[in-house]
Amino acid sequence: MSMKTDIKLIDDKGVRIDGRKPDQLRPIKIEAGVLKRADGSAYLEWGKNKVLAAVYGPREAHPRHLQDSAKAIVQCRYNMAPFSVGDRKRPGPDRRSVEISKIISEALESVILTELFPRSSIDVFIEVLQANAGTRCAGLTAASVALADAGIPMKDLVVGCAAGKVEGTVVLDLGKEEDNFGQADVPLAIIPRTGEIVLLQMDGDMTREELFNAIDMAKDASLRIYELQKEALRRRYAIVAEEEKEEIASMEEIKEEE
Ligand code: CDP
Repeated sequence: MSMKTDIKLIDDKGVRIDGRKPDQLRPIKIEAGVLKRADGSAYLEWGKNKVLAAVYGPREAHPRHLQDSAKAIVQCRYNMAPFSVGDRKRPGPDRRSVEISKIISEALESVILTELFPRSSIDVFIEVLQANAGTRCAGLTAASVALADAGIPMKDLVVGCAAGKVEGTVVLDLGKEEDNFGQADVPLAIIPRTGEIVLLQMDGDMTREELFNAIDMAKDASLRIYELQKEALRRRYAIVAEEEKEEIASMEEIKEEE
C-alpha cells in the first residue's frame, strides 16, 4: 500500500490498469458441491484468484473444552497453498492466515443459526490455490456457498467484497497492482439482503466521505455477487434432483426385472 511507483493505475478517462471502470468487479465464477468427501463445498474463481472451500458439520466439537452448551462454534482455517503466490509461500499457518481465519469465522458465525447446534462445531476449510489480491473476500464468498451446500441453516448468505482508493479515486475490488500501489484497501463482508456489514477492515487511509462511497460501492456489488452464489446453488440442486430421478428410475428397472 502507498508505495511510490511510476505505473499509472488509472488513466485520464478513468479506466483502471486492467481495463475496468471504477465500480466494476473482476469476473467471478462459482461452482457448488465440487468435493464428494465434504458435507458441503464450493470452488470459486475471482479474477485470477482460485479458491476452494469445504465444510464439515455440524459435528461434535473436539476437544470437548471447546464445546459451548448454548451454540455451535464456527472454526475456519484459511490456508494459502505454497504455489498460490509469486514467491513460494512457506507452508503452514502464519500471522496473516491466523488473522484471516479469525475474521472469516466471525463473519460466517453472524449468519449461521448456531443456537440450533449446541456442543457442535462447524468446520470450514478455505484453500487458496492461486492468489491475486482479495483472497479473504473470495474465500469468505466461497465458504458461504459451501455452508449452504452443506445444508447448514443460515439467516442469509454472506458476501465478501473489497473497495478502496487508487490515485485519488474510490474503486471496487482492487486487483494486485492496485492493492500494492494504491492508497487504501477496505475488505468488507456484507449480508446482501439487509446491507448489514459483518466485517470491515482498512489498510491505508481515505477520508470519511471516501470510506462511505467505498462501502456503498461494495454493498451494490454484494447484490451482484449474491446472485452468482444463488445461481451456483440452484445449479447444484438441479444436478442433485436429476441424480435422484435417475436413481429412482434405475431402482424401478431392477424391481421390474425381479
Ligand atoms: O488476499 P487479500 O487481499 O485478502 O489479503 P492481503 O494480505 O491484502 O494480500 C494481498 C495479496 O498479496 C494476496 O491476495 C496475494 O496475492 C499477495 N500475497 C503474497 O503474494 N504472499 C503472501 N504471503 C501473502 C499475500
